Amino acid sequence: MIGSVNGVAVSVTGLGCYVPDRVLTNDELSRLVDTSDEWITERTGIKERRIAAPDQAMSDLALPAARQALERAGADPAEIDLVIVATVTPDMMFPTTSALLADALGARDAAAYDLLAGCTGFMYAVAQAYGMLAGGLSRKALVVGGDVLSKILDWTDRSTLVLFGDGAGAVVLERVARGGFLGFELGADGGGGRHLWLPGSGSRHFEEDPSSFVKMNGPEVFKFATRVMVSSAEKILAECGKTIEDVDVYVPHQANLRIIDHAVRRLGVPKERVVVNVDRYGNTSSGSIPLALADAAADGRLRPGQLVLMTGMGAGLTWGSALIEWTEEMAA
Ligand code: ACO
Repeated sequence: MIGSVNGVAVSVTGLGCYVPDRVLTNDELSRLVDTSDEWITERTGIKERRIAAPDQAMSDLALPAARQALERAGADPAEIDLVIVATVTPDMMFPTTSALLADALGARDAAAYDLLAGCTGFMYAVAQAYGMLAGGLSRKALVVGGDVLSKILDWTDRSTLVLFGDGAGAVVLERVARGGFLGFELGADGGGGRHLWLPGSGSRHFEEDPSSFVKMNGPEVFKFATRVMVSSAEKILAECGKTIEDVDVYVPHQANLRIIDHAVRRLGVPKERVVVNVDRYGNTSSGSIPLALADAAADGRLRPGQLVLMTGMGAGLTWGSALIEWTEEMAA
């Protein structure tokens, strides 16, 4: 699915994020499984990640991120008419995390649903909210991307344990006078789904593998990631009549520094335009892109008029890009 937007300007008017307090370092992990700070740093660029407390679920991460985004947008929760939470680790299958979140915020009349698209969830959710706003169904939408992957990891499997962390980001989207989203490109390949999967998490029973922990074929996902991070970015730029030289801020999915470096080299993005925080947070799945956006905002790198390219990829297998001309956050 690809398209440049036609006429209706919709933008991010508030941005928030939240990560749990607990920092888990590579050295600590090397005391749990057969790994080392040296291996993790060299192969992934990750130094530490945040881990949710035993009593923290997805809605507990989403709530502070959402409150911050609403505050920065100058929005009253009662004005929010659409809440989408992109996550593969909802509190439970139902009630949805989005419904729980809407209730906790006081967004009483909002439509609320969760969206599953692996680590690409935030890109899918933002595109959907754009469609609802541009089509006139929604006036003010809240989109949260986040995951608590620590709860679905096998803590004895070094091949997945070292890669992931917990965190969430949130954006308020509404119509603006000018600027905002220029286009989206989204795709999926279920044929490759077996390379990154969570057996025992739904209605299919797997006799041989009933556990509900993340399973991954790292090298296959790596090949997929390096391919789509480039192709998705190229497609969206071409569709919107832009080139990589026009991009001021590049926000890639934070899975592995080697994947980011590959995309940066192939696309030809100058290093200073790339947002990287995988060293501090690891791969936070649906939280990755909004957390990186929040970091860029905190650094003063997101200024009105700047062109921001975001590309995500993940389980499904899925991928997705969005191009946005940044506008002033209301409270910024
Ligand atoms: N510590 C030490 N050694 C390890 C570790 C570890 N944590 N993990 C694997 N190894 C070993 C392997 O056993 C292997 O040993 P061997 O050569 O004796 O067999 C060796 O290191 C090399 O393993 P590879 O898997 O070939 O290592 P690679 O360089 O491919 O790196 C990695 C593995 C980091 C997982 C990489 O393949 C990767 O990043 N893949 C993409 C993962 C990804 O992005 N997933 C998220 C998608 S988003 C979502 O939706 C959740």
